[in-house]
Amino acid sequence: MSIETETYNYKVVRQFAIMTVVWGIVGMSVGVLIAAQLAWPVLNFDTPWLTFGRLRPLHTNAVIFAFGGSALFATSYYVVQRTCHVRLISDKLAAFTFWGWQVVILSAAITLPLGFTSSKEYAELEWPIDILITLVWVSYAIVFFGTIFNRRIKHIYVANWFFGSFILTVAMLHLVNSAVVPVTLFKSYSAYAGVQDAMIQWWYGHNAVGFFLTAGFLGIMYYFMPKQAERPVYSYRLSVVHFWALAFTYIWAGPHHLHYTALPDWTQSLGMVFSLILLAPSWGGMINGIMTLSGAWEKLRSDPILKFLIVSVSFYGMSTFEGPMMAIKTVNALSHYTDWTIGHVHSGALGWVALVSIGAMYHLIPRLFGVEMFSKRLIETHFWVATIGIVLYITSMWISGIMQGLMWRAVNTDGTLTYSFVESVQAMHPFYIVRFMGGAIFLSGMLIMAYNVYKTVSSGKAIQAPIPEPAAAH
Ligand code: HEM
Ligand code: HEM
Repeated sequence: MSIETETYNYKVVRQFAIMTVVWGIVGMSVGVLIAAQLAWPVLNFDTPWLTFGRLRPLHTNAVIFAFGGSALFATSYYVVQRTCHVRLISDKLAAFTFWGWQVVILSAAITLPLGFTSSKEYAELEWPIDILITLVWVSYAIVFFGTIFNRRIKHIYVANWFFGSFILTVAMLHLVNSAVVPVTLFKSYSAYAGVQDAMIQWWYGHNAVGFFLTAGFLGIMYYFMPKQAERPVYSYRLSVVHFWALAFTYIWAGPHHLHYTALPDWTQSLGMVFSLILLAPSWGGMINGIMTLSGAWEKLRSDPILKFLIVSVSFYGMSTFEGPMMAIKTVNALSHYTDWTIGHVHSGALGWVALVSIGAMYHLIPRLFGVEMFSKRLIETHFWVATIGIVLYITSMWISGIMQGLMWRAVNTDGTLTYSFVESVQAMHPFYIVRFMGGAIFLSGMLIMAYNVYKTVSSGKAIQAPIPEPAAAH
């Protein structure tokens, strides 16, 4: 094929982009259901596979790996091609990552409600599925790094560094934390024991947050924010410092998930200190993202996609301020085990991860199908609906969480507890209803998106985008 007719591989990007919307709706619907179950336990229907305990990991796996994962696959495949001016190195391997990932998701959707679980949070899937994940991930790494290797642009744009670190680190985390001794096809035991097992698990868990839910989505920010704002990144030098500082610091912070446990005290303090240090690179990145808009602030008035992106980066800043505070041992003594953690999680997950993905999809989908989005007004509506949903979700969890923490530690002058546990449950109830409403509102925004995307896709057609000739590349 001659250089003039060479095109990018948009097919796999299109597939993952559409599945981002589909899995977003599925994962968040399960989120709304489990939120309702916490408010009205009768909704467990006395049916094992419908109970909260089985559906909660289904929710986390679906939103993180199916929704978030599809957004990351779609954007990284798009960005690596566009910034390297070269087609993905293998269409077949890229197709394998798409279909393989869908099989992983479907296997999770079947096995988790049936009660098959390794019981490690965010790594619940049993060993045969873990092996498939490894195969897909190695193929992903080959496609991504192979494409970078083949690039026609000398410079490797910073977004690719973030995507690359996400791919490499997740491979390492998955391989180490999933080491098990299988006993049957659906049951295995961890290769580690006791406190080592806990430490490995939270080294995994925290860095899944740091590299899956953060570094990958920062890759999205560094490409789509400047593109949508039509401005260069505010400071390219800061983005490079951001990258190295973040990659170095995150990996040490895991022990903040195990404060006041059997983990040696010095390890907990180390985790706390690195979490506090993490504030600096995180905010450096946030400032870089927000300042990319400098000189173009007026665009915010008329561009709802930019609103999604800028608010997502603001939530990134908020949750990366809150996280280090919660990592301080004395603060964690209050927040741990409470809904404050859940509020923190969702200010990161809904405010940052979901909003930046949604913004990127609204930017991407029309370009993949050669048409404008069907309705800009519906994007604007989606933005406001999503924002109201998030605010209701996280404020209710903050109030409920701090109240729980305070009620559990309150003691009378004679040393007895002021409140029984059930009194704290009673006090939480109204906030659980508000959280359910916030979640349902956020989900309705996703349904608006699905309609808008459906109308767009059905009026457009799959396009073949030509790769610029080397002379035009710079
Ligand atoms: C409509 C939107 C959503 C609703 C209603 C929702 C609801 C919930 C509920 C009720 C829980 C269990 C809380 C508990 O055990 O007390 C939960 C946990 C969780 N959700 Fe969501 N969620 C939503 C979206 C998301 C998204 C988009 C993500 C990630 C990208 C996410 C990530 C998580 C995580 C990581 C946990 C576990 C938190 C922990 O163990 O501390 N959620 N969610
Ligand atoms: C500087 C950055 C951050 C730091 C230092 C940090 C710190 C923390 C701390 C201290 C906890 C509570 C641990 C506990 O008491 O059990 C926590 C929980 C959590 N954070 Fe963050 N956080 C940061 C950013 C984020 C972001 C951006 C997200 C999401 C996109 C996120 C997702 C989570 C999740 C999912 C949990 C719950 C883990 C679990 O118990 O299941 N964090 N974080």
